[in-house]
Amino acid sequence: MSGRENIVITGFMGTGKSTVGQLVAAKLGRRFVDMDDVIEERFGMPIPEIFKRHGEAIFRTVERGLAQELSTQSDLVIATGGGALVPVEMRDLMGRTGKLICLNADKDEISARLSETDNRPLAANWEALFEQRQLAYAAIPNQIETSGKTMEAIVCEIVAMRDGRIQVRTPVGGYDIWIDEGILRDINRHVDGLGLHGHVVIVTNETVAPLYGEPLASRLPKADIIAVKDGEEYKTLETVSALYDEMLALGADRNTTLVALGGGVLGDMAGYVAATYMRGLRLIQAPTTLLAMVDSSVGGKVGVDMPQGKNLIGAFKQPEAVLVDTEVLETLPPLQWRCGMAEVIKHGLISRPALLDPEMWETENLVNLLRDAIQVKVEVVEEDPFEQGIRAHLNLGHTFGHAIEKVTRYRVPHGEAVAIGISKAAQLSCNRGLIDKQLVEKVVSTFERIGLPVDIDLEPEAWYAAMSTDKKWKAGKSRFVLLKGLGEATVVEGLPKEEVLAVL
Ligand SMILES: NC(=O)c1ccc[n+]([C@@H]2O[C@H](COP(=O)([O-])OP(=O)(O)OC[C@H]3O[C@@H](n4cnc5c(N)ncnc54)[C@H](O)[C@@H]3O)[C@@H](O)[C@H]2O)c1
Repeated sequence: MSGRENIVITGFMGTGKSTVGQLVAAKLGRRFVDMDDVIEERFGMPIPEIFKRHGEAIFRTVERGLAQELSTQSDLVIATGGGALVPVEMRDLMGRTGKLICLNADKDEISARLSETDNRPLAANWEALFEQRQLAYAAIPNQIETSGKTMEAIVCEIVAMRDGRIQVRTPVGGYDIWIDEGILRDINRHVDGLGLHGHVVIVTNETVAPLYGEPLASRLPKADIIAVKDGEEYKTLETVSALYDEMLALGADRNTTLVALGGGVLGDMAGYVAATYMRGLRLIQAPTTLLAMVDSSVGGKVGVDMPQGKNLIGAFKQPEAVLVDTEVLETLPPLQWRCGMAEVIKHGLISRPALLDPEMWETENLVNLLRDAIQVKVEVVEEDPFEQGIRAHLNLGHTFGHAIEKVTRYRVPHGEAVAIGISKAAQLSCNRGLIDKQLVEKVVSTFERIGLPVDIDLEPEAWYAAMSTDKKWKAGKSRFVLLKGLGEATVVEGLPKEEVLAVL
């Protein structure tokens, strides 16, 4: 097959596959194929009639044959029937020559959409079918949440996915996240594409500078590098002040672009410099740890620590672009990889169950893993850019985790503390009847498989006391993010102390 890979749009009935598919095809100038329409044409009757006269098995056989035909072609936008990609062999077949994209919608929205049409043979018992198919849909590498979004936004997301980009809408405009292997080698094109000609200052640290800083600078016509000391203990106003001095010495002005190259510590601190130096410079985030890629580089929160606590000084600073280069992960120490995976699993638990599938963690799926995990963060920050509501879900397990860090004086790395914290949050959710035991076991076994701890020997009272100083607890009233299902989180306030102690 030559040409570009097909775009295959699937999802439950009522998620808008056909309408979205047509719009994507029109936008990209490609041919659109609605598989159900083709099958109706071939039988010469509507689908409910095919089911009645020939039965579902015959329908599925014809559907499989059509999938085989379409998989030998390229450049198509295909909308499948809702059940077409439920069998794994159908996903494998269509995935060989196509990018599989699953549209999701919440039950209320599906119910409303289904009431508008009677051309769906399986609609009568749709809720049971919805549950049955969830695992199969979750296994599709690219997921799009459609609830509450305009058609235009959904189409943009799909078009961006096609060229390895995720678009982020912010209160002040928007930016793209580019995810690919070797993307930093192309920095010049990105800087040019953004219209950012001129002076670039790459802010990085002493570990990352020799690995990626110098090669990056050599690809830009006018770039300087500043390397700060490596470590959370240097994420301070003193380092920020030293950065201001060096930038002034280098003649950085309002036309300078700052590239933040490093993990979350560096990205937060350099982002803060970009937010404040001469009232704001343009910023490109170039995250180099898994955690920074899937979490800290997206969403605009930047800042530094104070002796009194972490991230107490900061700002919201949206970047011009985020460049996620999978190549840089080759040098990431295994511990940092595992710690980043704790956040990836968190994203899976609050929104994208597919991220819990070990197949997704394989090297060949790295771009998909990153895209899905980043997409979760994007959806949350788009809905709640200033952390007033749903962004709290990103704190799943963090109340327990931050307290572990505090009690152990940061001897337990953040990602490990988060894995333990999420396991505790899952147990607490189960004890409250929000989730079943199987899900708790799934959470625990997932972390164990990654090599992350799920428990720690801490004195419960000390652990609880450290949690109660959490800035989200108001007037001593506890506040936890818990699970209410796989892919769903909820905030619960005022939990009795005994209930929390029971899981510690
Ligand atoms: N802004 C946000 O929304 C947000 C969200 C989550 C976390 N954070 C912040 O992120 C920070 C943690 O970030 P982190 O986990 O990335 O830690 P980190 O930045 O300290 O990086 C971990 C270590 O890996 C090294 N490193 C980075 N990239 C490397 C590479 N490609 N190869 C080899 N070594 C590499 C770093 O130099 C460092 O020693 C915390 O300060 C936290 O507060 C911010």
